[in-house]
Amino acid sequence: MSQLHEGASISDAVQLAVMNVEDNPLFHSVGNGGLPNENGKVELDAAWMDGNTLNYGAVMAVEGLKNPIAVARKLSGKQRNNVLAGEGALQYAINNQFAMRNNLSSLSLKKWKEQLVIETNHETQEAYDGHDTVCILGAKNGEVIAGLSTSGLFMKHAGRVGDTPIIGSGCYADSDIGSAAATGVGEDIMKGCLSYEIVRLMEHMSPQQACTAALAQHQKRLQRSKNIIGSMSVIALNKEGEWGAATTKNEFSFVVGQDEGSTEVWISSCEEGKVSNTRASDEWLKKYADALKHGSGN
Ligand code: GLY
Repeated sequence: MSQLHEGASISDAVQLAVMNVEDNPLFHSVGNGGLPNENGKVELDAAWMDGNTLNYGAVMAVEGLKNPIAVARKLSGKQRNNVLAGEGALQYAINNQFAMRNNLSSLSLKKWKEQLVIETNHETQEAYDGHDTVCILGAKNGEVIAGLSTSGLFMKHAGRVGDTPIIGSGCYADSDIGSAAATGVGEDIMKGCLSYEIVRLMEHMSPQQACTAALAQHQKRLQRSKNIIGSMSVIALNKEGEWGAATTKNEFSFVVGQDEGSTEVWISSCEEGKVSNTRASDEWLKKYADALKHGSGN
């Protein structure tokens, strides 16, 4: 990654990747340009986990930060007070000279005003096209890191917190095994602590098997309780750099990067309960880029 300085760590690479999305107003579910809650406020959640130490940090329901991931990473280095919410998180960021930004773009404001005239059903809210969080997993020389950031569900209740900053649900990282992260409807992801479950399963199986098994089992369990099940997608990376992904949707896109810049976009899909992952076609990539330009990016 050309923006990385010489000798940058895998943690620096993960943070930079998350920050690139937080800073990009074309993505409407993360950072700058994120879609607001029902009060028109862009409340952000972010999490960081270091697989070497099991240290974690998170901010939740906080407004006005430029890069919530940077604050989450900083909090992960502390012994106590690792997860800060709302006003307290903002105060900590201000006191520690983190950059601020009004993340409500004119496009997000427009979408919010349009949505105000439509009644939002909080009981059945869905993620944008099934996913809503930037989830970056990194592995290098046996060290694994997870970094996540989101503005959460559009028109969520003020103060609502999704799975992203809840360690074990939104992400988990243990350098003895690997890391996992989730995106989609946080309320349903949290019912299965999906990321922790996947990392534990990876002790005995490949990342792909772990993603597929954890998601299928969780979906089955939710169906048994007759829950209205929201979309959920997961990714995993073991300490050897093998990866996996699974989704409950018919399309979930993710990116796989290897050393020295080879980057591929993949699509995971689930049809009749069967998960498959395929490389994105040129046509798909063009359509995605066009959608971003026309303001419908996630
Ligand atoms: N998955 C992010 C959220 O539910 O807020």
